[in-house]
Amino acid sequence: MFYHTDEPHGLPYNPFNALVIPRPIGWISSLDSDGTANLAPYSFFNGVAYDPPQVMFAASGYHQNGELKDTVRNIQQTGEFVVNLATYDLRHAMNLTSAAAPSDMDEFDIAGLEKEPAELVNVPRVKASPVHLECTYSQTVELLKPPQGDASNLVIIGQVIGIHINDDVLVDGRVDMKKTDLIGRLGYMDYVRISDVFTMERPDWPTT
Ligand SMILES: Cc1cc2nc3c(=O)[nH]c(=O)nc-3n(C[C@H](O)[C@H](O)[C@H](O)COP(=O)(O)O)c2cc1C
Repeated sequence: MFYHTDEPHGLPYNPFNALVIPRPIGWISSLDSDGTANLAPYSFFNGVAYDPPQVMFAASGYHQNGELKDTVRNIQQTGEFVVNLATYDLRHAMNLTSAAAPSDMDEFDIAGLEKEPAELVNVPRVKASPVHLECTYSQTVELLKPPQGDASNLVIIGQVIGIHINDDVLVDGRVDMKKTDLIGRLGYMDYVRISDVFTMERPDWPTT
């Protein structure tokens, strides 16, 4: 099949999210200006530079009340956030924190998650997550908007200034993919869990 993306695709669900996969899940904690903690998953998330290390996530649309998503508002106001990596064991808690809870409710409490202070930023981390990226806010990039309505697509970019790796997931100095047991996002309501890893060396030029 082929379809123009500004015309109906004729499928029961939009296939786009099932085509750019798997997407890592940035489970992002932040604090509002009153100090209330916020936690929400974003799978339009990725690392985008090594030096200095930088990450991005994209927030689409608005909350039902027409305001920016809490994560975006908090990061723009405080300049700080933490990316917690979501594991298979934490999948239900992660999913719970995606509910559009009122801004003054702490999603750590909603999901029954213990907090742990960060080293360099004033934002709590998800204690049970094996990896945390402590970040400072760099910039917001405004993407194209939907042709109808007033929703936005905003990319938030941050610099990673500190990284926690649980020693239990380090084997011979490398992060062991199976021990971290991370989950990623597929299309529809599907997720992926890393169960099969293979290795390839990069070729030299000219290749033989
Ligand atoms: C696995 C998963 C991935 C998600 N990825 C995104 C995303 O990339 N962008 C987005 O705007 N919303 C995404 N959502 C929805 C947000 O988590 C949801 O809108 C949440 O209420 C935002 O919370 P906040 O207002 O506290 O930031 C995702 C939800 C789930 C369960």
